[in-house]
Amino acid sequence: AAFAMGSVAAQDFPGNTPVTFVVPFAAGGPTDKVARDLAEAMRKHLGGNIIVDNRAGAGGTLGGTYVAQAKPDGHTLLLWHIGIATSPALYRNLKFKPLEDFEYLGLINEVPMTLIGRPNLPPNNYAELVKWINDNKGKVNLANAGLGAASHLCGLLFMSQLKADMTTVPYKGTGPAMTDLIGGQVDLMCDQTTNTTPQIAGGKVKAYAVTSPKRLNTPELRNLPTLDESGLKGFDVSIWHGLYAPKGTPKPVLDKLNAALKEALKDPEFIKRQEALGAVVTTDNRVNPAEHKKWVESEINKWGPVIKAAGQYAD
Ligand code: MLT
Repeated sequence: AAFAMGSVAAQDFPGNTPVTFVVPFAAGGPTDKVARDLAEAMRKHLGGNIIVDNRAGAGGTLGGTYVAQAKPDGHTLLLWHIGIATSPALYRNLKFKPLEDFEYLGLINEVPMTLIGRPNLPPNNYAELVKWINDNKGKVNLANAGLGAASHLCGLLFMSQLKADMTTVPYKGTGPAMTDLIGGQVDLMCDQTTNTTPQIAGGKVKAYAVTSPKRLNTPELRNLPTLDESGLKGFDVSIWHGLYAPKGTPKPVLDKLNAALKEALKDPEFIKRQEALGAVVTTDNRVNPAEHKKWVESEINKWGPVIKAAGQYAD
């Protein structure tokens, strides 16, 4: 055959080489959780192994850059979230262009967020929390997973709508941030339900509100008020995850990956696991590359001005 050593024909993809999902945040966090559940479901349909590689740093942009520059053979994929759409407004020297440097595979899920506090934080409900924040001006810490993280975006909107400044404490993911929140080293965090549900259920953190416009209907979260009904009118942050390949990945390989993704999104076990954590698995046409890309473009246009208005950026 005319192929170089170690490579396989597109029709034989993935062959014996595993597919790697690059997760741009630490292990044990919400994006990692989605990646591991999806890997398990997609593996059944891809005919090859899928592994997860956590490449955390710079709010997810390090992992994004890594995949943008990886060999376009379908073996290195990026599993990222809304950060792929918000990072262009946050980083002036971003090393990749979201709409030019990736092949789009599809939207995986949408995930609401929750405002949570350390277990020994004095306020017991949202109204008490607002009073406590105002009584403790200049002393409140808010954890996040860095500039570009979902927790950063949510925290930014929370602070700006509440007109309260807090000291933000960046981590390599909300997995490690959660450990510090439970330990009482930081006060507050806005984080995805896929990470907070088990901790809320176990009484390890205090939960104050959800960021969706409607209340959620999982047993652990159904009693939580929305931020909108609590006084932050119009507050609505729901994040999403998608799957991406480096630009130039052969079409037959992309087709195989997209087909396996679509099967995984219909997998009852995957759906059950994600729904139990408050996530909504994609069932509409955004599972298709073209519609997913259009959606990401609309998210870039939606969040860019909001982030620029909040005046936050990095080099
Ligand atoms: C993570 O997996 O740590 C996150 O998705 C963090 C975030 O974006 O807030």
